Amino acid sequence: MISKSINTWDQTKHWEEACIETRRNPDERIRRLRFFRIKKKEKILDLGCGDGLNVHILYKKGVKNIFGVDISDALIKSAKRLTPKAKFYLASAEKLPFKDETFDVVLVDSVFHHFMKYRKALGEINRVLKKKGRLCFIEPHKSIVRSLYDAVCELPISKYIPFLKKRRISYLGEIKFMRHWLKTEDDFYETLTELKFVERLRKLDIMSTIGIYEKASY
Ligand SMILES: C[S@@+](CC[C@H](N)C(=O)[O-])C[C@H]1O[C@@H](n2cnc3c(N)ncnc32)[C@H](O)[C@@H]1O
Repeated sequence: MISKSINTWDQTKHWEEACIETRRNPDERIRRLRFFRIKKKEKILDLGCGDGLNVHILYKKGVKNIFGVDISDALIKSAKRLTPKAKFYLASAEKLPFKDETFDVVLVDSVFHHFMKYRKALGEINRVLKKKGRLCFIEPHKSIVRSLYDAVCELPISKYIPFLKKRRISYLGEIKFMRHWLKTEDDFYETLTELKFVERLRKLDIMSTIGIYEKASY
């Protein structure tokens, strides 16, 4: 079962298939997660957790107070199988099933670019974060490397190139979302400013932005 809410295109179904297919490199995930300096005692929400690879990595590193949320039933089921002791919820980013000021960190890895509008989800994240809690995210950035990669993935020949075979499935499954995000990326940062988040890190990685934004303390 798939809920649509803020996602206008029926993209999540594609992602469910592609996500299972494209289990991204755990070393690369660990490298990127390190930027967030998540501590073992902190209470973490992985929003849009997919099949739960980040939850699994963090749990194995001793972060036990960790929750995953996704709108895909199939992916939540996979996540539960992978890390049975973590807690998972089938819910939308627009309506999170948690009380105000619950989490030290809300982790959002490659999810905002699936949204046509960010305000409601960012409002919910703001609500469930404790004061001075961190929104930690990784989202696509329009770098030259990404533009080249994406252009090649759009060519039919890419299905015959071994290292592109998997990436093209997930890229083509979310192409409309991706284009929309890359065009409207600035609106996202403006919304963060309007909500009084304080920028702690905004780093351009190879093809993505790694961000840490702190919730206001008042
Ligand atoms: C690109 S995947 C990333 C999954 C995971 N964060 C990871 O790094 O592997 C995007 C995820 O966001 C989820 N998603 C999309 N819209 C959502 C929403 N409105 N609320 C919660 N999750 C959503 C999708 O189901 C999908 O699992």
